[in-house]
Amino acid sequence: MCERLDYDFSELEKSNNSFLYEFGSLEAAMRQLDIMWEIKEYLKKRPRATIVNLGCGLDDTGKACDNGLCRVMNVDFPDVISVRKQLIIERCCREKNVACDIKDHSWMDKADGSDGIIFFAAGVFHYFTIYEVKSMVLELSKRFPGGCLVFDSVGKLGLKLMMKTALKNMDISNVKGLFYVNNPKRELNWSKNIRVTSRNYMLGYYDMKSPNIRFSHRLLAWIADRVIKMSINRMDFV
Ligand SMILES: C[S@@+](CC[C@H](N)C(=O)[O-])C[C@H]1O[C@@H](n2cnc3c(N)ncnc32)[C@H](O)[C@@H]1O
Repeated sequence: MCERLDYDFSELEKSNNSFLYEFGSLEAAMRQLDIMWEIKEYLKKRPRATIVNLGCGLDDTGKACDNGLCRVMNVDFPDVISVRKQLIIERCCREKNVACDIKDHSWMDKADGSDGIIFFAAGVFHYFTIYEVKSMVLELSKRFPGGCLVFDSVGKLGLKLMMKTALKNMDISNVKGLFYVNNPKRELNWSKNIRVTSRNYMLGYYDMKSPNIRFSHRLLAWIADRVIKMSINRMDFV
């Protein structure tokens, strides 16, 4: 896919053996694995459910969780969806791409929750304000009882440290009001119709005790979970 993108990867490739670059790759892989774990758990009970990838970019997690019965809906801005359509083949009847700003709740009209529905947002809500996330969550909980939402978050320190470069690249200078969570269970307790559970992002699902993973990376993973407060949150709409 990278070869088919009109993008110069050479600058990135220069650092691809560095300690932090490796950790960044590991971190992105863990996020996707954690989210896949939650989706597969949900599909065990609702195998025909719809998986909704919010701010999908070129991520194909929906397909990676395919059990042959579920449906997949990918949502992102129109320009992103247009590139996605050129690079990733959409399966005709069980997958659809929706071009929409997810802050505009009209995309929800296109989501079918009749057989269960699981929404996920990977690396997306950091660019939203807390009010935008909360208003979307409350609307989802009203429209889709029995559904659930899974997303990653960082704490206040994490938002300042880790997102600094990303936010600068996106021309966002004022991080005030942007979404961060220090204590998910307490801070995401937005409605009696929402049950919140949360796990550590790096070590909450897998212990990373693989001979291929260095001790120093595991230590950094622990710091990411405990100090940066990276977590994977699940909100069940009851
Ligand atoms: C950091 S990328 C993550 C992409 C993908 N979720 C992944 O895990 O690789 C953030 C994505 O969110 C999308 N995004 C951000 N704000 C959005 C919005 N308001 N509506 C739709 N998509 C949005 C961006 O276009 C981008 O594709």
